[in-house]
Amino acid sequence: MKIVVIHGQSHEGSTCMVARMLAQQVGGEIEEFFLPRDFDKPCLGCYTCFEKGLSRCPHYAALAPLEKAMLEADLLILASPVYVYHATGQMMSLLDHFGTWWMIHRPRPEMSRKQAVVIATAAGGGMKSTMKDMADSLEMWGVRKVYRLGFGVQAAKPDDIPERIRASIEKKTARLAKRIKEDAGRQGCNARAKKWFALMRLAHRLASPMGPDYEYWKAQGWHEKNRPWRT
Ligand SMILES: Cc1cc2nc3c(=O)[nH]c(=O)nc-3n(C[C@H](O)[C@H](O)[C@H](O)COP(=O)(O)O)c2cc1C
Repeated sequence: MKIVVIHGQSHEGSTCMVARMLAQQVGGEIEEFFLPRDFDKPCLGCYTCFEKGLSRCPHYAALAPLEKAMLEADLLILASPVYVYHATGQMMSLLDHFGTWWMIHRPRPEMSRKQAVVIATAAGGGMKSTMKDMADSLEMWGVRKVYRLGFGVQAAKPDDIPERIRASIEKKTARLAKRIKEDAGRQGCNARAKKWFALMRLAHRLASPMGPDYEYWKAQGWHEKNRPWRT
């Protein structure tokens, strides 16, 4: 299995520990990116991606290795420490660059063959909102199945994580890894993205809007019988 781990921080702390534990338990070819070390650009809000395509983004040279790795992976792991109840700014900056991948714009059919996991660790609170920050993109990209794994570690670094919490991390990552392996190789689409696909398809048919999104859907045959999760 090809696994891509995107770390929302550049240091190897508790979040990195959990993400690596899961990736190693699933097993396979693991590629890691650390933010901002491997991508440090904030979206400029220029709309070039929406108007001309992602490959015309002013940051595309730096973005391309992450794009390629994500498109080729079977499993995407996005991991972030909780910073003031949310994913790190650098994780959100990366995700901002993939707005065109959302189901309502120009989703990539490759996503229908992937599973994903969002991981958050906090001292105590904010895991739910942090995991949502990352899951929103993965689900709206049309990833088949998105799992959430959050831990209140009661620590600022891995060595200080209490033994009972460490045991729970090991148990839960092992259980999820087993499930991911058993479920590998399937194709589909999560319910949220499917709903947005149906709404957008209706909007295209009623309004016949011209523009890059409409043309992309037309070329894919999505106004007819084709679907992103059946190609
Ligand atoms: C800037 C900053 C903001 C933080 N905000 C929160 C927070 O909102 N809630 C919380 O429980 N912990 C918060 N923490 C603690 C970390 O989320 C927690 O220690 C986490 O496990 C660190 O992961 P790491 O070792 O991968 O960096 C914050 C830490 C930092 C540095």
